[in-house]
Amino acid sequence: MRLGVLTGGGDCPGLNAAIRAIVRRALHEPDTKVLGFKYGWAGLISGETVDLDLAATKGIVHRGGTILGTSRTNPYKDPSDERPVGAILATLESLGIDALVPIGGEDTLGVAMRLHEDEGVPIVGVPKTIDNDLSETDFTFGFQTAVQIATDAIDRLHTTAESHNRVMVVEVMGRHAGWIATYSGIAGGADVILIPEKPFDIAEVAARIQHRHDQGRLFSIVVAAEGAMPVGGEAVLSAGETDAFGHTRLGGIGNWIQEQLEKMTGFETRTTILGHVQRGGTPVAFDRVLATRFGVAAAEAALTGQFGTMVAINGTSITLVSLASAVGKLKTIDPELVAVSEVFFG
Ligand code: F6P
Repeated sequence: MRLGVLTGGGDCPGLNAAIRAIVRRALHEPDTKVLGFKYGWAGLISGETVDLDLAATKGIVHRGGTILGTSRTNPYKDPSDERPVGAILATLESLGIDALVPIGGEDTLGVAMRLHEDEGVPIVGVPKTIDNDLSETDFTFGFQTAVQIATDAIDRLHTTAESHNRVMVVEVMGRHAGWIATYSGIAGGADVILIPEKPFDIAEVAARIQHRHDQGRLFSIVVAAEGAMPVGGEAVLSAGETDAFGHTRLGGIGNWIQEQLEKMTGFETRTTILGHVQRGGTPVAFDRVLATRFGVAAAEAALTGQFGTMVAINGTSITLVSLASAVGKLKTIDPELVAVSEVFFG
């Protein structure tokens, strides 16, 4: 049997652990070969592959990034151009791939679902993203590492905020969902957390900070997801470049919040945009273990022909769910968790 593996979309810590686990489990079966496609769907279009054998996947469980490289290539970008999908099918045919295991988030797995449903490509998906916004799985790997990085940053900003009596705005990733903001905000003791799911009133944020100040708390920490938005204020987001899946490049809401808070409260305010630091470096143990469990389960599903599925974690168990329902809608933040975070707002 021949398995193909690719990593698509934004990278995240744990991808190498997942690749290693797929390969190690698959190679337990006789006459099995694993091929890696380079740079996400781009590698399937161009046919650029690497052999994924024991030697290629040695010593990588702790390494961030992806040994396969990644890209945001979308073979369905231009609906009138059938060539990219045609090229993918031709590559699969010529290399004799019996099962494809894409590791990705909403976009990569959305492509996987279409290839499976429209073209019959035998696919088992593996969910990853620091944003933790894929449905049908309690967690994606990469998320806990990003949360730890953001929490460490908030801890550091806390001490300097306190020394200078400043308001610190920390902008974290999270395009459509406030998982990183809420987890790191709770862990780091944030005084306000702003998330994409709940448009915020900047005057109310200023009032909370003023209230803290009146109580003698002369510094504050505001954690904002990059996709957080003021009520009726889409214009403040950078309307710059969009990627192949039509997503606008985010980043900068923190600066806008800083400006407004300074104006409204008169308190000295600074912004830190954590950006890609959250996606880099070594995965925490939780993500290594989750990626490994996902990889082993995905190889087993592929070897036994359970296609059109995605591996997932529900509670503490690894399960197989339908790929279509996983990509059908985004998993936004659990309101119960938001309510917990709000107990601690200024
Ligand atoms: O999808 C994960 C994510 O980290 C988003 O939160 C963020 O908006 C995006 O990737 C940024 O990706 P890049 O700059 O690599 O295109």
